[in-house]
Amino acid sequence: MKKTFFTLQLLCIALLVKAQEQWTTIRNGIEWTDTEGYIVQAHGGNFLQVGDRWYLIGEDRAGSWRPDVNLYSTTDFNTWRFEAKIIENYVTHPDLGSSRMIERPKLMYNEKTGKFVVWCHWEAGNYSASEAGVFESDSVAGPYHCVWTGRPLGTKSRDCNIFVDNDGAAYFISTTEENTNLGLFRLSEDYHSAVSETVLFKGERREAPAIAHIGDTYYMISSACTGWDPNQAKIATSKNIAEGWSNLENIGDRIAYDTQSSSILTINGTEGAVYIYVGDRWMDPDLPRSKIIMLPIEFENGKMELRYFDTWEIDLQRGKWRTIDTSKK
Ligand code: GAL
Repeated sequence: MKKTFFTLQLLCIALLVKAQEQWTTIRNGIEWTDTEGYIVQAHGGNFLQVGDRWYLIGEDRAGSWRPDVNLYSTTDFNTWRFEAKIIENYVTHPDLGSSRMIERPKLMYNEKTGKFVVWCHWEAGNYSASEAGVFESDSVAGPYHCVWTGRPLGTKSRDCNIFVDNDGAAYFISTTEENTNLGLFRLSEDYHSAVSETVLFKGERREAPAIAHIGDTYYMISSACTGWDPNQAKIATSKNIAEGWSNLENIGDRIAYDTQSSSILTINGTEGAVYIYVGDRWMDPDLPRSKIIMLPIEFENGKMELRYFDTWEIDLQRGKWRTIDTSKK
C-alpha cells in the first residue's frame, strides 16, 4: 500500500514537471507566413525582445531589389504578426528607393534614451557608396526617422551588424575598405554615431558578422564574400571585444547549411539560455522566397558548434532546447 502511494506521488510530480514544459517547434527550410498568410519578408535582420514579444526586423525582398524594412513580432517563433513597414522607400528618406537602398537592417534598444535605433547598410545600386544609415523611433513599430547616413568615421562600410554588450555599450560592426577588413565601431551613448574604430581580421575578407557575449567570451560568426551564394562560416572568439581575437575556424558544414549569418539570438529562460544562429538561405529558389533559418548553437568542450536540424524544439519559458525524436513518429 505504502509503495503504491509513493509511486503515485512520483507520477504526480513527473506529470507536474511535464505540464510546466512548453515545447515549441522551430521549422527550417519552409516558408514562414504571417497571420495574414503572406510570406514573412524580413531578411538579413535580427531579433529584439520587448516584453513577451520578439520583434524581427529585416529586408522586404517581396518585390524589389531595393528592399523596404519590415517589422514582425512573435511570441512562439511560429505565429508572425506583421507590425509595420518601418522604413519605406521614398517615404522615410528621399534618396531611399532611388540613389540608395538598405540591406541588413538591425534593431536595438537604447536603455539610456529609451529609443529604438536601427543601423543598416545604406548603399548605391552598384555598392560604390559603402555607407551606413541610422534611424530612430520612440516606439518599436515606428515611426522611424533618419538620424544620419554616411561612411562611419569616413570608412567605407558594407555588410553590417550591431552588438549591444551587457553594460549597454553598443557597436556597429561592418565589412570595410572594399570587403577587406571588419571595422568594429564603438557607438556614442545615444547610439547615433561611431566614436572609434578598431580594425579586426585585417585582410581576411569577412562579412555578415554576428557577435554574442556568452560567459566571459565573445563569439563572432562570419561568412566569406560570395554574394548570394553560401560559403563556409567561420567562428572566432575573444575575451575582449576589441582585441585578442582567435584565428578564424570553420563552423558548420562547408556552405553553412546553405545559409549566411544574420544574427545570434539569445533566449533567456528560467532554467537556462538558448543561443540561436539565425541565417539567411538566400535565393531559395529566388530572392523573395529566401528562407530564414534558425539553428540551436551547441557547445562541445567549450567550442561553439552548429548542426543542422529541419525541426527542433525550444522551451522559451525555461530556456531549453531539444532535438525531436523522429523515431517516435
Ligand atoms: C552578400 C551580402 C548581402 C548582399 C549580397 C548582394 O554578400 O551578404 O547582404 O549584399 O551580397 O549580392
